[in-house]
Amino acid sequence: MSAEAAESQGVLGPLTRAAVFLVVRVDAGAEQIAKDLLADLPGLQRTVGFRSLDGGLTCVAGVSSAAWDRIYGVPRPAELHELPVFDGDRHTSVTTQADLLFHLRAGRMDLCFELETLIMDRLRGAVTVVDEVSGFRYFDARDLLGFVDGTENPTGASAARAVLVDDDGPFDGGSYVVVQKYLHDLAAWNALSTEEQELVIGRRKLSDVELPDADKPADSHLALTVIADEDGNELAILRDNMPFGRPAHDEFGTYFIGYAKSPSVIERMLENMFVGSPPGNHDRILDFSTPRTGALFYVPTADFLEDPPAPPQPVQDSPDTATADPSSLGIGSLRRSAR
Ligand code: HEM
Repeated sequence: MSAEAAESQGVLGPLTRAAVFLVVRVDAGAEQIAKDLLADLPGLQRTVGFRSLDGGLTCVAGVSSAAWDRIYGVPRPAELHELPVFDGDRHTSVTTQADLLFHLRAGRMDLCFELETLIMDRLRGAVTVVDEVSGFRYFDARDLLGFVDGTENPTGASAARAVLVDDDGPFDGGSYVVVQKYLHDLAAWNALSTEEQELVIGRRKLSDVELPDADKPADSHLALTVIADEDGNELAILRDNMPFGRPAHDEFGTYFIGYAKSPSVIERMLENMFVGSPPGNHDRILDFSTPRTGALFYVPTADFLEDPPAPPQPVQDSPDTATADPSSLGIGSLRRSAR
């Protein structure tokens, strides 16, 4: 599979009105069922999406570190690992045992619902559902804290540069994605004045205008999530947070989802938020928002999903070399060069 030809999944899809976040664990012995479903996923997406051409249906599947070897059995993407726990003085993140993520997006919920139904028809009995959240776009693309969420997302070519892997051979064109389900303490949040809330986020609430640096507290969300490399270039991620909730159960949340070409970018933001920068200076958004889940996945290209390389087989004809030899099976290109 050449990097140029590899077609990405719909990572760069536009923000939509509806989304479903489905996270599952693959039951022992059901790896082939999961692999077959992943191979058919681009086709299933076309099946549902073609019935509503203006519906903008996309589905992105991610595979966790724990699941990669079990499902594919081939060398893994360089930066695929379990999401670390970020343990600060006041707030600690959560890492959830998870194998597969399905991020479904569309202009209408019925399209997400239909595709999720087809996915689960294939996976039922083979997976344990860890989390299933239906998100909706709220007024002016606001989150349930009332702030416009998504403004500073990269677009166009900058988005592709920020999120698509471009230095990992056969994994180029893929991406990494982190999800976290947050619940908000809206009573505590609403007890703040609008001006106090603006200091927590770092932007004006009504107009969405960013506060001048001089007025932006060091523990505001923006101060801690705007990061740069050693040359001063800003490191961007692509977010598509979605509000969700059940008012009758006093449940009000934000489903955070962030794509990046390297998970280290998102992890640095999480370190800043939870541990603080400097340590102790944590993100004040966490005083009102608690993560209940968290996981990291690699997002293979659509080509990889549809036609994954065969895992190496033991060499049969030589009793003293009964080890795997990937190069003899045409997947030599999957082996990373020493880095
Ligand atoms: C910006 C909300 C979690 C990374 C923002 C903004 C809001 C917001 C309202 C300002 C508008 C915008 O540019 O989008 C939230 C909420 C969260 C959450 C409600 C969960 C409770 C996270 C997490 C990360 C993150 C976990 C990263 C690990 C960012 C980044 C920006 C941002 C990179 C853009 C900063 C800039 O360039 O100005 N978020 N966020 N957010 N957030 Fe979050």
